[in-house]
Amino acid sequence: MRLEGKTAIVTGSGSGFGEGIAKTFAREGAAVVVNDVNVEGGQRVLAEIVDAGGTASFCEADVTSARDVQAMIDHAVTTHGGLDILVNNAGVAHKRKSMLDVDEDEFDRILNVNVKGLFHTANATVPVMRQRGGGAIINIASTAAVRPRPGLTWYNASKGAVTTLTKSMAVELAEDNIRVNAVNPVAGETPLLPTFLGEDTPENREAFRQTVPLGRFSTPQDVANAVLFLASQEASLITGVCMEIDGGRCI
Ligand SMILES: NC(=O)c1ccc[n+]([C@@H]2O[C@H](COP(=O)([O-])OP(=O)(O)OC[C@H]3O[C@@H](n4cnc5c(N)ncnc54)[C@H](O)[C@@H]3O)[C@@H](O)[C@H]2O)c1
Repeated sequence: MRLEGKTAIVTGSGSGFGEGIAKTFAREGAAVVVNDVNVEGGQRVLAEIVDAGGTASFCEADVTSARDVQAMIDHAVTTHGGLDILVNNAGVAHKRKSMLDVDEDEFDRILNVNVKGLFHTANATVPVMRQRGGGAIINIASTAAVRPRPGLTWYNASKGAVTTLTKSMAVELAEDNIRVNAVNPVAGETPLLPTFLGEDTPENREAFRQTVPLGRFSTPQDVANAVLFLASQEASLITGVCMEIDGGRCI
């Protein structure tokens, strides 16, 4: 049990990568706050964790709302006795298309969830972790930050902000023993995948697969395994890294 006695929040864990991370954390002994705006998805993941013998609770919160985020951190403290690990996973994308076809509402939504959400979670989490003597924050960025491709410009930019703020938070919060790292997954088998592919056809999937040297898409378990390592004591000297989980695609 690599997270025994720890409490973790995983934002957007009612689906996809977040679901894999929440379930993996619970298997490793953490008390997990499953968060999502999708109540049905969050409640399903909660039930599956509890059925498997894990400790968890669900907290509906929109990461774009400072008030919701503060209530979520308070929920972790009052329900599970503290907060040791925060995974900023909630994220949205625009469908692959020309950068000039993304309208202002879509742009605002992406930057609000993918970037401003991390501003809100940092403001609410850091004081709690400082008081506790440390903690670990892991941000789910993307290969989009490292090797941006056409058709996803504004999404790519939001993930570029995530890798930069990860490194900046890492140096600023090191004196508080708060480690801040990120992972950069390649396209993965989640409900978000068709958004990235544009047209989700077998031909497009195969064409993309061939651009990955190890020859496959990422899975929630691939991402969860890396996040688990970064959250654990084994990574106690690691801060400010943005780790590709991409089968070699960014080389
Ligand atoms: N799937 C991929 O190919 C891929 C690749 C690289 C990075 N990512 C990133 O991984 C993360 C997870 O994506 P996923 O593929 O699992 O997608 P997903 O759509 O399966 O899961 C994202 C979850 O976030 C929730 N969410 C959205 N807005 C929210 C908000 N404002 N507050 C709280 N929850 C919110 C959604 O309801 C959803 O359950 C995202 O940050 C995404 O950008 C995904």
